[in-house]
Amino acid sequence: MMQFIVFGNPIEHSLSPLIHADFGRQIGVNLQYSRSLTSSAQFNRAVAEFFRTGGGGANVTVPFKQHAYAQVTHVSARAERAGAVNTLVPLGAGQLLGDNTDGLGLVWDLQRLLGASQLTGKRVLLLGAGGAARGVIQPLLDAGVTTITVINRSPERAQQLVQLWQSPQLVWAPAATPEYDLIVNATSASLSGDKLVLGADVLDAAELVYDMMYGAKPSPFLEQAGQYTQMTADGLGMLVGQAGFAFKLWLDGAELNLNETLERLRAELNRGT
Ligand code: ATR
Repeated sequence: MMQFIVFGNPIEHSLSPLIHADFGRQIGVNLQYSRSLTSSAQFNRAVAEFFRTGGGGANVTVPFKQHAYAQVTHVSARAERAGAVNTLVPLGAGQLLGDNTDGLGLVWDLQRLLGASQLTGKRVLLLGAGGAARGVIQPLLDAGVTTITVINRSPERAQQLVQLWQSPQLVWAPAATPEYDLIVNATSASLSGDKLVLGADVLDAAELVYDMMYGAKPSPFLEQAGQYTQMTADGLGMLVGQAGFAFKLWLDGAELNLNETLERLRAELNRGT
C-alpha cells in the first residue's frame, strides 16, 4: 500500500487524510495517508525516517513550511519564489524535492469561482505579508492578474515583500481603497479570533472576497464581506486544490475530479467532523 503523510503542529484537525483518501478512491488506488505531529527539533529525522521506510510523498504544513524549504536537497522554482515547501517528493537515494502547490491551489479555486480565464486583468488586494501571502504571489501573477497590492498590519513587512519581488505588478499600500476586483485574506487574524475590518466601499467595489481560512462557519471577516460583496468564499477549495497538485506530483498522470472532492469535504465539514 502506498504511504503518504502530513507533518505539522498542530495536526489533529488536518483534513488532508480525508482529501487524499478521496483521491485514492477516485483513481482506484489503495493508499494510507497519516498525520504526523512533530517539532522543529524532530522534523528532519521524522521526514528522513518516513522516506527511508518507503513513503511515497509528504505534505508539510504550519509551522514547518520554511523549515522544509531549508532542508530539502532540491527546490522547485515555485517553492523558491514562495520561500516555503508544502510538498515533498522522494527522488531516491535520500534526495528530496521540495515543491509548493499552495498558490496553484488558490488559482484553481479562484478559477472555479470566477470561470477559467477570469483572473486575467484582475486587480488583487492581498491582505497579509507572511508566509501564506508570499506563497500565492507568483502563481497569481502567472495566472494573469494585472496587479497585486499588499497591505499588512506591519507595513514594513509588506514593503519588504514587494522589494523582494522587484516586479512593477507587486506594490504595497498603507491602506485599502475601493479599486480592487479581488480581495484575498492571507493573514492569520481569524486564527486568533481577531476581526479584520475593511471599509464598506472597498468590499462593495470587489467582485470576490476570498479568505484562505476555512471552517464550518464563515470567519467574521467573510461575514462582514458578505454584506457588501457579490461573492465570498473560504479557503476549503484552495486546500483541495493544493492537495490535488501535490497528489499529481506523487502519482504522475492521476486524473482527479477536484470539484467532487470539494463537495464531499464541504459536506463532511458541515456535519461537524
Ligand atoms: P503565515 O505563514 O500564516 O502567513 P505569518 O508569517 O506569521 O504566518 O504571518 C501572519 C500574517 O497575518 C502577517 O501578515 C500578520 O501581520 P503582521 O506582519 O503585522 O504580524 C497577519 N496578522 C496576524 N494577526 C493579525 C491581526 N490580528 N490583524 C491583522 N493582521 C494579522
